[in-house]
Amino acid sequence: MATTEKSKATTTKSAAKTKTAANTKSKTGKMENSEFHEFFVDELKDIYWAEKHLVKALPKMKKAATSPELAAAFEKHTQETQTHIETLEQVFSLLEEKAAAKKCDAMAGLLEEADGIIEDTDAGTMIRDAGLILAAQKVEHYEIATYGTLKVFAENMGHTEVAELLGQTLENEKATDVALTECAVSFVNEAASQE
Ligand SMILES: [Fe+2]
Ligand SMILES: [Fe+2]
Repeated sequence: MATTEKSKATTTKSAAKTKTAANTKSKTGKMENSEFHEFFVDELKDIYWAEKHLVKALPKMKKAATSPELAAAFEKHTQETQTHIETLEQVFSLLEEKAAAKKCDAMAGLLEEADGIIEDTDAGTMIRDAGLILAAQKVEHYEIATYGTLKVFAENMGHTEVAELLGQTLENEKATDVALTECAVSFVNEAASQE
């Protein structure tokens, strides 16, 4: 009973809030000036910044890697990250929004941490690779969380094509995370433990 009353109150409150937002329906019938839409676009700008910085950081991580396998994984993901940037540009264009980057504090911090790991480990060691995998997986998990949520937002707003594009990137981030785990468990961690 209490829950019903609470949800009723929330509905009334959010309905009142929606009323105050400048909602205009586009030719596609979607609310493109709603607060939720603005929030969605803002978050897209955040991940756009993140991807644009990541694409510059990955070649540094590749250069720092000890094993050719990990270097190849970073090389592959640099190209994929470039695709993620282009996909986001497509998303902005579908939403008729300008592709703009907004500083992502989380990615800035994660990349700073990756730099710290390179500084704290010796070149040519497998401990370096274990550390790089740790840093890279933190990045991938951040991306997975972001794309997973943004895809659902797009679905909720009826942006089917946008949801599909975000879903493609999401799957690639997940595959990258799996590939990094494989590197770690197949040879990196064991070699690092023997150094
Ligand atoms: Fe990405
Ligand atoms: Fe990624």
